[in-house]
Amino acid sequence: MVRSLLPLGAALLGATTVLAADIPTCSLEKKCPEEAPCCSQYGQCGVGAFCLGGCDPRMSFSLDSCVPAPVCKDKTYKMDSLDRYKDISEYLGDPETADWVGQGEPLLYDGNVLLTMPPKSVGTVLATTTYMWYGNVKATLKTSRGAGVVTAFILFSDVKDEIDYEWVGVDLHTAQTNYYFQGIPDYTHTGNLTVDGNTYDEFHEYEIQWTPDEIRWLIDGKLGRTQKRSDTWNETSNQWAYPQTPARVQISLWPGGLETNAKGTIDWAGGKIDWNSDEIQDYGYYFATFKEVTVECYKTDKAPGTNKGVSYYYNDISATNDTVVDSDKPTVLKSLLGTGTDMDKGDSTTSGSASASSSSVAYIPGGGSAPPNQVPGDENSDDSGSDSGSGTGGSSGGSSTGDSLACATSGFVQSCGQSGTSNSNAGARDVERGLGASAFAVVVGFAGLLLL
Ligand SMILES: *[C@@H]1O[C@H](CO)[C@@H](O)[C@H](O)[C@H]1NC(C)=O
Ligand SMILES: *[C@@H]1O[C@H](CO)[C@@H](O)[C@H](O)[C@H]1NC(C)=O
Ligand SMILES: *[C@@H]1O[C@H](CO)[C@@H](O)[C@H](O)[C@H]1NC(C)=O
Repeated sequence: MVRSLLPLGAALLGATTVLAADIPTCSLEKKCPEEAPCCSQYGQCGVGAFCLGGCDPRMSFSLDSCVPAPVCKDKTYKMDSLDRYKDISEYLGDPETADWVGQGEPLLYDGNVLLTMPPKSVGTVLATTTYMWYGNVKATLKTSRGAGVVTAFILFSDVKDEIDYEWVGVDLHTAQTNYYFQGIPDYTHTGNLTVDGNTYDEFHEYEIQWTPDEIRWLIDGKLGRTQKRSDTWNETSNQWAYPQTPARVQISLWPGGLETNAKGTIDWAGGKIDWNSDEIQDYGYYFATFKEVTVECYKTDKAPGTNKGVSYYYNDISATNDTVVDSDKPTVLKSLLGTGTDMDKGDSTTSGSASASSSSVAYIPGGGSAPPNQVPGDENSDDSGSDSGSGTGGSSGGSSTGDSLACATSGFVQSCGQSGTSNSNAGARDVERGLGASAFAVVVGFAGLLLL
């Protein structure tokens, strides 16, 4: 706890001049301003970490505002150490320096990594520092449990293509699967897979096999679901509504049942979270246990799906698979003041946080840029709404009006992926659909909650 509070604490200090109201939001219709050019995964504009993993080029000031994304690397991540983990406030984009970046409270316990969610927190999220452009990924894990507690293992691209496994803590026999194209909500895509035994007490291996033609979900080596690209044609947009862009592996534990969330989200997550549960009494936090994650890059000589160069970037705002370039562009910022178009800004000899302290723009998404009790996007959900879950929400994308804000109890939380409370129509539709939180789109900002 102390370990991760320190950098975030520094970040908080560094960003005290940036109030929530000052952080511009971004969406497809409303790109970021030049001085804070990068649109984070959560729909807010800034520099530094905003321009690294999760930066959406379609919503940023220009396509090259985001820093290019490190290409796929075959790797088995043994989750028996946190040596290769960095808090988002300490990472500048070099995958040689870390395998995972994240926010929250990952802990090492008994040779595994626990993603924890202490009382009143927004949980923990970790993402790989490299991107997978098709390929296979599998995770051996034990889920958390309890009403409102959601464990997730997903692929999430910067333009919000998404392939999911999610587990709600009231059903320890089911893995929910889902996929999204560019964050456009469509709740007809879910599929429930039955897990033999129990997801909380036993490790199981969950796998996603992803090619340009189909997605397969396997549990303990057994095929549970197949989604063919050929079944995803959208006649309105004239394109395949199929995940097709380089994605980070994200693992997370997040509070779907936070009381400030949209009702649809809470219902889907199995009800409100009990912060006095046995789990909390016994351990002090909810937790999910990760033993191993393996990434096997797609093997091809020809795009799409290559990983020959150093980094991926997009050369067109349509962000389809033919617009991804496997390139030699560098991926590392000098400081958290940098952006894709000014990667050397700042001084590498001081910490990003320190050097950014004089900045009037935010540089750590969700972290320390908003004072407690203010929900990013809350006030402005009307103007920014109507798309991309503006406030935050990863893939509430598209049309979803109410956007984000869902999970938020403080200025630090990110959306829980579902339309927000502010739009009852959307909410009602979600409830009917039983949604399935699209982009887990959760979490961030932690420090804020712990300080409350
Ligand atoms: C999947 O299971 C959850 C409960 O665990 C349920 O709410 C949802 O409707 C199910 N979805 C499908 C498509 O059957
Ligand atoms: C991606 O690229 C391949 C090869 O160019 C193509 O066949 C496929 O239809 C493209 N689109 C999608 C949605 O994957
Ligand atoms: C098809 O694409 C349009 C435009 O992006 C979108 O509004 C609509 O929801 C999509 N339809 C389906 C069924 O996904």
